[in-house]
Amino acid sequence: MHVISFEGFEYSGKSTQIALLKKFFIKKKIVSTFTREPGGNKDLEKIRKIILQSDFDNLSLILFFFASRFSLLSSFKSNGIVVFDRFFDSTYAYQNFTTRDKQLILNLIKQIHKKYIPRLTFYFKMNRKTLLERKNKRGALNKFDKKYLGDFARIQKNYNDLSKVKIGKRIFITIDASQSKELIHEEIIRNLKKWKLIK
Ligand code: TYD
Repeated sequence: MHVISFEGFEYSGKSTQIALLKKFFIKKKIVSTFTREPGGNKDLEKIRKIILQSDFDNLSLILFFFASRFSLLSSFKSNGIVVFDRFFDSTYAYQNFTTRDKQLILNLIKQIHKKYIPRLTFYFKMNRKTLLERKNKRGALNKFDKKYLGDFARIQKNYNDLSKVKIGKRIFITIDASQSKELIHEEIIRNLKKWKLIK
């Protein structure tokens, strides 16, 4: 099993790339599983709805996200390449934290079994111009996405800070999200080959 994760702000093109990768794996007959956070199984998808419509305070959100995450991992059965649409980086990036909360998040990350630590994380970094262009072109956001829309700079900074923290053997790959979807897809495939996740 190889784990990879996709991260990035709303409109970064994360979902498009995950869909392209799914197609690629099917075409190449590469065994894979796609999952998303929060959610990922039937019960947790119900909890996803509640969390994403909530007004929970930050500490509660941190704990809800990690509870959902540990629950998902505890029942996880999979071979091949496992693709996470968001994982622990999202909690570090999105939840507003005090210094104490930050330590809590880092400690919770350490509780994740090393077999689930992604070998590669693809992070789609975007500039404000691309964000605004895409925001104007695309439809409405859900409540939770809206809640964080004004936090673009903070969230990108948090992703950037976490990219410098060594977490197991994972390699954090920052991708310029303003490029075309074809170029980004190629960059992802190139990296999967380079790090020997696929041939
Ligand atoms: P997202 O995965 O982008 O789904 P959709 O495409 O349906 O918008 O949205 C999930 C939201 O949850 C997004 O605003 C980020 C947020 N989130 C956190 O704040 N912390 C977390 O730990 C995770 C996994 C998600």
